[in-house]
Amino acid sequence: MLYSVGLSFVVLLSVIGAATVDSGEYDYFKYHPMSEITDWMTQLEKENPDIVTIMDYGKTYEKKTISLLKIGVKTGEKKKAIWMDCGIHAREWIAPAFCQYFVRQILDAYKKDPKMEEMMKNMDFYVTPVLNMDGYTFSWTNDSTRLWRKNRSPGPKDCDCYGTDLNRNFDAFWGTVGVSFDCCSIFYCGSQAASEPETQAVTYFVGTRKEDFLCFLTIHSYGQMLLLPYGLPNVTDPNYKELMEVGLAAAEAIKKVHGMDYTVGTSPDILYEFSGSSKDWSRLQGIPFTYTFELRDNGTYAFKLPEDQIKPTCEEAYSGALHIITYAHDKTFNGAVATAAVTLWTLVLAVGVTGTNLM
Ligand code: ARG
Ligand code: ZN
Repeated sequence: MLYSVGLSFVVLLSVIGAATVDSGEYDYFKYHPMSEITDWMTQLEKENPDIVTIMDYGKTYEKKTISLLKIGVKTGEKKKAIWMDCGIHAREWIAPAFCQYFVRQILDAYKKDPKMEEMMKNMDFYVTPVLNMDGYTFSWTNDSTRLWRKNRSPGPKDCDCYGTDLNRNFDAFWGTVGVSFDCCSIFYCGSQAASEPETQAVTYFVGTRKEDFLCFLTIHSYGQMLLLPYGLPNVTDPNYKELMEVGLAAAEAIKKVHGMDYTVGTSPDILYEFSGSSKDWSRLQGIPFTYTFELRDNGTYAFKLPEDQIKPTCEEAYSGALHIITYAHDKTFNGAVATAAVTLWTLVLAVGVTGTNLM
């Protein structure tokens, strides 16, 4: 009897332990399989119901639900927005780790830092921790699948290989340069622009809210770079100068944290030419500040960045991302001037209310 009570107690405890992920206990400096990341999202929403909402916005090829975390103060007003996605390339495990760290940092900053509170009142952050869920899950299978890059949709009838490179599949100069039409290639761009369900999910979600987005940040590894539009050598962004300046200032902010050098430029200038990227697509939609982050390292460990580098990598990249986001926010909301006006107005209201009470 005593034994069975004890046993059920243990069983009950372990059920609770398995069902909940205390995000206070969550280890942000380890790589997590898909199921743990999904549990983490659920838990985060549960713990922060006033500012965190999970939104489902699509299905992967294998019918997994693609979700993002919408983070911001529910003001009831129409707000601007920031986009961030991680894990569009399966093997770049540091990217999902960064998205999770980024979310934790902004939630923490919201409680302590009036600037973050102001930004969360003016903007919602839409963060997708793992966009290519099928590929990410596959890369966790075993050593031979660890370096999988693409999604998991089967190729056309005459081809036995799997997967489309989602960052070659967007409707932006699709199929022109830096892609392959061989479905066995890691750069296979798909059967047509936005042929893949994961591409369609982003295209629809962002496309139907494009006026709201100030930033589109898509996180990759590796190479320590901030890439700006466009991926084609003969297409120049009309806002190149400002994007370059903001990018260089972000790289400076990154360097201050752990001394790491990040290179800034278009990908034909500093990496390679390619078409069909989500960054180019989002810029063509009119989103002003669009960047690809290529996180650590420079090739020593490449896609297999050791876990002891997750923390410094996230810390420095957070600083860079925050620079870009703050710049976009302040440019739109007129920074200090707007804050001063709000303060003044609050004062006027307070005096007005007090005055009324006195009569
Ligand atoms: N994440 C990159 C991509 O989207 C791969 C970067 C490889 N880095 C490099 N230095 N070649 O293709
Ligand atoms: Zn990548």
